[in-house]
Amino acid sequence: MILLKVMEDIGIIRVKIWQMTECIVNYDLKIFDDLDELSEFFSTELKKQVDSTDNKINLALSGGNTPKYIFKFLVEHFAKKISWDKINFFWGDERCVPPTDDDSNYKMAYENLLSKISVPGKNIFRIKGEEVPEGEAKRYSEVINKTLPQQNHLPVFDLIMLGIGEDGHTASIFPDQLHLLYESKICSVAVHPATTQKRITLTGKVINNARNIVFIVTGKNKSKIVDSILTYNIESKNYPATYIKPVAGNLIWLLDKEASSLLKGN
Ligand code: 6PG
Repeated sequence: MILLKVMEDIGIIRVKIWQMTECIVNYDLKIFDDLDELSEFFSTELKKQVDSTDNKINLALSGGNTPKYIFKFLVEHFAKKISWDKINFFWGDERCVPPTDDDSNYKMAYENLLSKISVPGKNIFRIKGEEVPEGEAKRYSEVINKTLPQQNHLPVFDLIMLGIGEDGHTASIFPDQLHLLYESKICSVAVHPATTQKRITLTGKVINNARNIVFIVTGKNKSKIVDSILTYNIESKNYPATYIKPVAGNLIWLLDKEASSLLKGN
């Protein structure tokens, strides 16, 4: 049974899929006409979250073209509106390359967001892609462990931004490395299946321990994978993103029209 409930005021669709008596899928979904509308929503929600507390927000960024657009939007429209010094910036994953490399997720975030807002360097916790991956995964795990509050014996991020690849990967958890979803480590080394590039990624357990997880997905090329994951069809079992289900937090999917075009009723 699929239950769809529309919260009319802000157009969020609440989706729950039940199997027998167990709710196996539970997420909120919001579809936008374009990336500007989506970015405006994300930026406003981020501002609300920062304003709602005196504490620092621990935010994990993702790489990819969609976040890049959002970072630029934040700089253009929210540079002066958000108290950036109240945000600690982490990354959900990093490619094992130096921070000067165009493949670096840190470089992308630095050039498009961090260098253009007023944020102290001590709030920026980058993954050192230039270091030996296994050692860096361990070091970054310790940094996260020391800096974030804990629940369920695991660190709790306030917000994790995620994208998905056309193969269903999220962060750097790829379909042939589903074990990274369940590892007890905070960060692990992953290998991109096509390029063999090493990555450092948060593991599934830490992602699922977050207070808020937001998937941000745009473009027609993602419509098939989005449909599969969000309707929990048979193929979805192969995709890491399917297993992102917060243990106690909120999961929201922000899509543009194109990424949502195969979803029923759209
Ligand atoms: C990475 C990313 C990755 C990304 C997706 C979506 O480092 O590869 O973190 O998981 O989020 O590939 O990227 P797009 O926004 O470019 O579609």
